[in-house]
Amino acid sequence: MSQERLKIVAGNWKMHKTYQEGRDLAASIVEKLTPTQTMVVLCPPFIHLKGISTIINDITHLELGAQNCHFAEQGAYTGEVSAPMLRSVGCRWVILGHSERREYFGEDEALLAKKVDAALAHELRPIFCCGEKLEVREAGKHVELVQQQLQGALFHLSAEQFGRVVIAYEPVWAIGTGQTATPGQAQEMHAAIRQMVADKYGSEVADGLSILYGGSVKPANAKELFARPDVDGGLIGGASLKADDFVAIVNAF
Ligand code: 13P
Repeated sequence: MSQERLKIVAGNWKMHKTYQEGRDLAASIVEKLTPTQTMVVLCPPFIHLKGISTIINDITHLELGAQNCHFAEQGAYTGEVSAPMLRSVGCRWVILGHSERREYFGEDEALLAKKVDAALAHELRPIFCCGEKLEVREAGKHVELVQQQLQGALFHLSAEQFGRVVIAYEPVWAIGTGQTATPGQAQEMHAAIRQMVADKYGSEVADGLSILYGGSVKPANAKELFARPDVDGGLIGGASLKADDFVAIVNAF
């Protein structure tokens, strides 16, 4: 039912790199990566996916993810990309609920629940993002907020479905700001998330869940974050755009 807990380092390229720059970055990462037990996931823009899939093809523990998908299988949704389309170009993962999607594109838990269903129905593993803004943390409501996010978007799943989900805790105040959560802050929230999952699905499912930290992860702070017992890896933004930095973060385990 539940999966073995994976160590994962995923690179969220956001809206960076032209096609050729993206291919060069992927090739450079492939060249610098040494064999690892850590699952490495590259999440470039949609149009890069197919071209990068041929570069990372057949390398174990190096897989492709998208940054979003639509909830419908197909249809009149101009400009959108569906889960089966992503599968058809070799994607195995999809980031859902990133705070930038919530903030700029109005994504909420009800929509995300449908996207999570679509991903799972088409054998994409969701990397579901949660996390609070600064004012929520300052009000001491961060754990409560994350609980609402998980409840609204994930807790309708069966235990078997939930076993395919990865959670990324990304405090909004730490994204792209250089202000990383302390390892203690990350561990505290990750432990709280694991407890919420244990309460809902039982300890076996909770133990198998990978919980990634995201927000200003760099080679200099990755080791200390990843050393915490409930931090199973990272979702990396800015530092994933430089092959040396990204590979150094992978090697921080
Ligand atoms: P940064 O690593 O640039 O802070 O971005 C984190 C993030 O949003 C990853 O999804």
